[in-house]
Parts: sequence; C-alpha cells; structure tokens
Amino acid sequence: MIRELRDYFGELVTAKEADPGDDVLGRLIVKNRGTKVFDHDALVGIAMLLQLAGHETTANVISLGVVGLLQNPDQLAALTADPGLAPQAVEELLRYFTVLDTVYRVAVEDIEVDGVGISRGDGVILALGSANRDETVFPGPDRLDIERSHHGHVTFAYGVHQCLGQNLARLELEVVLSTLFARLPDLRLAVPVEKLPFKEHSDAYGIFEVPVTW
Ligand code: HEM
Repeated sequence: MIRELRDYFGELVTAKEADPGDDVLGRLIVKNRGTKVFDHDALVGIAMLLQLAGHETTANVISLGVVGLLQNPDQLAALTADPGLAPQAVEELLRYFTVLDTVYRVAVEDIEVDGVGISRGDGVILALGSANRDETVFPGPDRLDIERSHHGHVTFAYGVHQCLGQNLARLELEVVLSTLFARLPDLRLAVPVEKLPFKEHSDAYGIFEVPVTW
C-alpha cells in the first residue's frame, strides 16, 4: 500500500511541478523553485506526510468523538442546545481521547522533571495521554466535560514540531460534529459500545468502524 501511495503522490507531484495550481502542494512547489530546499523525492515525502498525518488522526477523532458524545447524552444535549459550544467540545474531545499518545524528543539542555534528571542529548518518550489526564490541570480528568473553560491540552504535542495541521483538524471536527448531530438528531449506535472494534494496538487510537442508525 505504501508503494501505491508513493506512486500516486509521485505522479501528483510531477503533474504539479508542471502546473502547480493554487493549493498547499502547488504553493510549496512554487516557493521551492526559488529556495531549492527540496528535491522531487522530498516533495513526494511531504505530500505523503500531509496525507497520512492529516487523515487517520482526524478520522479517528471523528469516530471517537461521535461515540463519546452518544455515550454522554447530557454533553450531546448541551452541544445541540448551544452550537456555539462546538469549539470547546472539539478541544475537550481532543483532550479526552488523545489519539496520538506518544511523541519522542531529544533534550536540548539539562533539566529536572519531578526530581528526575534528564541530560542534554537524552532521548525522551512523552505520554501525551497522561499529561492530558493531569488532575492538577484538568479537574476530574476522566470526565468528558465540553464546557471546561481551561484548555492546555497537548494533543497536538508542543514546541516547534507541534502539529502543523491542528487548525485544519479543529475546523474539520467542528464542521463534522455540529453538522452531523443537527442533520441526524436521532443518530445512535447500532451495536453495543463494547462491541465496537477499538484500535487498541495501533499507533493512532480510534475505532475501525462505527455502525449507526437513526
Ligand atoms: C485530530 C487530528 C490530529 C492530531 C491529534 C494530530 C497530532 C499530531 C501530533 C501529536 C504531532 C507531533 C508528532 C511528533 O512530534 O512526533 C503532529 C505532527 C504533525 N501533524 Fe498532526 N495531528 C492531527 C491532524 C493533522 C492534520 C489535519 C495535518 C495536515 C493536514 C497534520 C499534519 C502534521 C504534520 C505535517 C506534523 C509534523 C510536524 C513537524 O514535525 O514539524 N496533522 N500531529
């Protein structure tokens, strides 16, 4: 599958090198004509990264978010009664499910965290899901509460390499969740929640399929 994707994006980049058009890849190719930072293969790699990083993560938050709201009818009712809550609901669902749990970093200076010394150059594995359930930051962290006023979650990681597509993801999630429940107010699961095939062992947490009815 990776080879097919690479072939597809290889052809796409070749076509856009000839006729860029006004989209993210086209603009990158035009800018690169001046800077010459990337060769053809690097551009194909960037196109694949945008597709892979952007698709599965967001799709997973959509499926988990729908199930999370259906399992918490008071939260869903609050959202449908006040669609203005959608941005907050999205932040809370992003925190609550933390679909990418692990990121890797290298310490750029000596630091101490909770009495543990980390030396410059050490590799560090960070558990975003744990940080997002820190009860000193999010009171009652295991509760889904779309009206939380404080949001310092790290679902998109932190620092210079935090998620490039986070605002696009937020927008997609807002549109999907508010449109779906407005159009299908009787939406409900067609199978018990415990029968849903959760992606327990994937890099990105999610659900393989969510059968619904209305
Ligand atoms: C809910 C949806 C998303 C979540 C939870 C998410 C999460 C993350 C996280 C945690 C990272 C940091 C990974 C690391 O440092 O190892 C990251 C990086 C990245 N994300 Fe997302 N992402 C989402 C959507 C998107 C979308 C829609 C795009 C693009 C269209 C995207 C593109 C990227 C890229 C290119 C990086 C690498 C940034 C860099 O290394 O400088 N992501 N994302």
